[in-house]
Amino acid sequence: MIIETLSVFPDMFEGPMSASIVGRARERGILDFTAYDLRDWTHDKHRSTDDEVYGGGQGLLMMCPPIFEAYDDIASRGPKPYTIFFTPAGEPFSQGMAVELAEKERILMVCGRYEGFDERAYSLADRCVSIGDYVLTGGELPAMVVTDAVTRLLPGVLGDEGSAVEESFADGLLEFPQYTRPAEYRGMQVPEILLSGNHQEIYDWRRSQALERTARRRPDLLRFAAISDEERERLEHLSDPDED
Ligand code: ADE
Repeated sequence: MIIETLSVFPDMFEGPMSASIVGRARERGILDFTAYDLRDWTHDKHRSTDDEVYGGGQGLLMMCPPIFEAYDDIASRGPKPYTIFFTPAGEPFSQGMAVELAEKERILMVCGRYEGFDERAYSLADRCVSIGDYVLTGGELPAMVVTDAVTRLLPGVLGDEGSAVEESFADGLLEFPQYTRPAEYRGMQVPEILLSGNHQEIYDWRRSQALERTARRRPDLLRFAAISDEERERLEHLSDPDED
């Protein structure tokens, strides 16, 4: 898959996009990642990418010409890119969106700085995306977050194919607690059941832990989670604020 970013800070991507699983996916040719410098499509001596807001207002906006010229140039080099603009006013990013994006052949991520984009720039977007309800200084970190979440879903990227499935959000639930050696550390014990070797009991315990943890920490997720009527009934008292 091809992922390209367009930004005034292309150097920000270097470390995170070269390390660990994403770096290895690139080395193995599964991910073809390029960070473009938006200033390469400016024409003035200051290489400007931003300007004042019409009608007055605080701050500077990313202006249209470099973005449109960069888009035309980059897009002409291959199949039409699925184009994402990052903004706190976008659609919330989710595991479901990552799964959807992992099917694309080519994605172009446009990262804003300053107070955002001239509204007309969004006409290039297939989707506007936010990574959460907080304001960052730019779209570079969101582009890295989305690239990371998408890359680990690409076939052949994770050694153990099961690990992308059996984790938080795959069935709409948070992940159950997990432990490794030693069995006792600073007085804290690994739950006995996990040492029992009884696969059915371990499965049932993990399932109930995932359900309870989700009900306590993220009750909003239960609405769309894959859970039986019986499990749902058992959980109802857990998300009740009057309980415990
Ligand atoms: N740009 C600034 N903050 C952002 C956020 N939370 N998500 C996406 N893009 C952003």
